[in-house]
Amino acid sequence: MAREGVEATTSGTKSGGFYDAHSEYQRRVVQAGAAALERVVASLELDQEGEPLAIVDYGAGTGANSARAMGAAIRSIRSRWSETPIVAIHNDLPTSDFGALRLAAEGEGYLGIPGGPIYSMAATGSFFDQLVPDASVGLGMCSNAAHWYREQPHVGEFDGMYFSAARGAQRERLAAQAADDWTRFLEARASELTPGDRLLVQGIGVDGEGRVSAGRLLEQMWAVALGLSERGLLDRTVLGEYVFPVYCRSAAEAKAPMGPGGPLAEGFEVVAADSQEVATRTGRCSSEAATARPTRAPTRRSSAPSPSRRSSAGCSRRARSGSSRRRSATSSSPPSSAPPPPIPRPAATRPTS
Ligand SMILES: C[S@@+](CC[C@H](N)C(=O)[O-])C[C@H]1O[C@@H](n2cnc3c(N)ncnc32)[C@H](O)[C@@H]1O
Repeated sequence: MAREGVEATTSGTKSGGFYDAHSEYQRRVVQAGAAALERVVASLELDQEGEPLAIVDYGAGTGANSARAMGAAIRSIRSRWSETPIVAIHNDLPTSDFGALRLAAEGEGYLGIPGGPIYSMAATGSFFDQLVPDASVGLGMCSNAAHWYREQPHVGEFDGMYFSAARGAQRERLAAQAADDWTRFLEARASELTPGDRLLVQGIGVDGEGRVSAGRLLEQMWAVALGLSERGLLDRTVLGEYVFPVYCRSAAEAKAPMGPGGPLAEGFEVVAADSQEVATRTGRCSSEAATARPTRAPTRRSSAPSPSRRSSAGCSRRARSGSSRRRSATSSSPPSSAPPPPIPRPAATRPTS
């Protein structure tokens, strides 16, 4: 469904502090990626300390988790470059509560972090489109958001309303649509990031058998919805067509577009991709993280080959076609000397958007 002129299937997280107060699991997913974020920042390069570094958090929500993630990134950057000006950009849909987001940056947020100036900004729009100028981003982050579809899927009725309940050709169609969306997300980031910089994507994922913990919750919601339709309170045809518009990827699906022969094979190098279980109050959910770096010859940073950078659920930018920069080796797992970066997969205990 197009909303407010952008392509998205949600109008954002609930405002008035609701999402911030009910996103403990998402917060844990972000925290699970702390070590990966440290490694990503450790691998960033700056030509000169006075040059601004732009960080974008894609799908930032209403603030609390995004401000924490941004704060963690800025503190880590400050430990390397104390005076570098930071441009902290939060992206979400135009319908999101950006006022709450800005307030979250104040006080306990990141604006008080000592050192050089920090500028907090909003980039409103769909992350399936380019949101900031070419090669203007030094670090991209995304947590618990890249699982949303760009358009409402229509695959016909199956016994459920969540991708994990679909089988056979219907599951394949849901996977294919999600793969197209993921490629589009990455294409936009490939333009925005400077080659050699880092993109860290964390989200809820599926386990090796394609299961996601939120599947049980969505089964219960489906049972309730069927009951409502039997009582004439929900149109059975509409219900049968409905798919909750998110798709949780496996690590292999997350890496696929950047792998050999993939549409982003020349645009990103996967530095690390991993998954881990993130505890909830009632159990454990899988989460994934991947780090990648762009590979086009950098415009802002040194043109010398840079060491691998990683992010949880992250990628790095590769050279675009015609680039003079050599493609770096891709690693889907961290070196044995370091713990694997957490790749939070989108496995939510509640379908908060
Ligand atoms: C579950 S929240 C995650 C918020 C925050 N990153 C966190 O980890 O708590 C998902 C966010 O993704 C946003 N989102 C979904 N589709 C989007 C799109 N196409 N473009 C930008 N943001 C989108 C939603 O509006 C929502 O705020």
